[in-house]
Amino acid sequence: MPHFDYQDGVLHAEGVALSAIAEQFGTPTYVYSKARLLENFDAYANACTGRDALVCYAMKANSNLAVLNLLAKRGAGFDIVSAGELQRVIAAGGDTGKVIFSGVGKSADEMRLALQHDILCFNVESIPELHRLNDVAGALGKKARVSLRVNPNVDPKTHPYIATGLKASKFGVAFSDALTTYRTAASLPHLDVAGIDCHIGSQLLDDAPLLEALDKLIELVDALGDEGIHLHHLDMGGGLGIDYGVAGEEAPAPAGDYVTRVFQRIDAWRAEKHGGRPIKVIFEPGRSIVGDTGVLLTKVEFIKHGEEKNYCIVDAAMNDMARPALYQAWMDMQPVKQAAEGSDGALFDVVGPICESGDWLARDRALPVEAGDLLVMKSAGAYGMTMASNYNTRGRAAEVIVDGDQVHLVRRRETVEELFALESVMK
Ligand code: LLP
Repeated sequence: MPHFDYQDGVLHAEGVALSAIAEQFGTPTYVYSKARLLENFDAYANACTGRDALVCYAMKANSNLAVLNLLAKRGAGFDIVSAGELQRVIAAGGDTGKVIFSGVGKSADEMRLALQHDILCFNVESIPELHRLNDVAGALGKKARVSLRVNPNVDPKTHPYIATGLKASKFGVAFSDALTTYRTAASLPHLDVAGIDCHIGSQLLDDAPLLEALDKLIELVDALGDEGIHLHHLDMGGGLGIDYGVAGEEAPAPAGDYVTRVFQRIDAWRAEKHGGRPIKVIFEPGRSIVGDTGVLLTKVEFIKHGEEKNYCIVDAAMNDMARPALYQAWMDMQPVKQAAEGSDGALFDVVGPICESGDWLARDRALPVEAGDLLVMKSAGAYGMTMASNYNTRGRAAEVIVDGDQVHLVRRRETVEELFALESVMK
């Protein structure tokens, strides 16, 4: 992970020792590198230079206001999936004119709020949703810009829980229904048919399925053009993976290379078939912007030698990081104190204090650790804090951003009182 290195035998985030962060803010704590965040965004943005393009960060991956604010200042747009996320964009100083609203189940209230803030586009996923949006926009005396999320039926070759573009998925409009759905959209008076989008899945290591999906979208753009429906933008969705360090797994395509390949295809198509007509390109990356910007810092509470396994019991748990429990995701663990050469340590299952067997963070890892030591879970910046819960009445982790030798607390730890502040006993 760039910007996370050992200095004098202690793991640092940029210029700050993680041991110092643990001492000051306690554990578990998410620690993000500002430099890495901006590098990841710039990889997309720089590859888009001189193009009509927009990078809409999929904030479901990490929606801390400080993260959003840094990206907004860099020119990012945002891909949102709820009114709550829209309110976060506003609170973080983002431009609502660069917001794309995705999701299969937008409520009328959510549509209303998004229309009032004049978002760039609604990514619509069904005919009933088109009708609802048309009604809401009509009642407000507005026109809603829409794109249809088309299901290109491309196999993203990723975990089934995060594959979204296959036929059997709940997402998107079936490829074979796309033209008729567009005709419906074009016939509704309060909709402005603006674009086409797809999102085929997440943690894709190879960009070939994304380019295959692009080819399918292009086919539709041409077919729609033949009917006089001209689209203003094409949205590639997100999905590019990161290197979690899984043994034997290929490294993902660098974001800049992927974006360049998208533009090459689009240029070739525009020159050949699209009559040179311009089309704006939108990307919705989440994980590849924030995944390797952060670690989850945790402390070893106990070492326990079971009959069959050794357990390293830490103070972070599945409520802080759900990916292993939910997807059997392999997340790398590393000690904060650099191990002496040759001291691999015993094999451990790293588990949390939550009362169920599903509460594990890593399995069968050689770790040179003892009680009181600090560990990090690497590449935990995406889908970590945003998926955290208060299960077992555990306050969620604190979050800090390191900028050079400065540490900024960007979310303090919750107090126990806050966890039940909204509850009351029956009168
Ligand atoms: N656009 C749409 C419409 C999406 O549904 C998603 C993610 C993205 C963009 C961003 O995808 P990314 O670039 O992050 O792959 N919780 C799971 C991942 C769920 C992804 C959901 N959709 C995990 O921890 O692996």
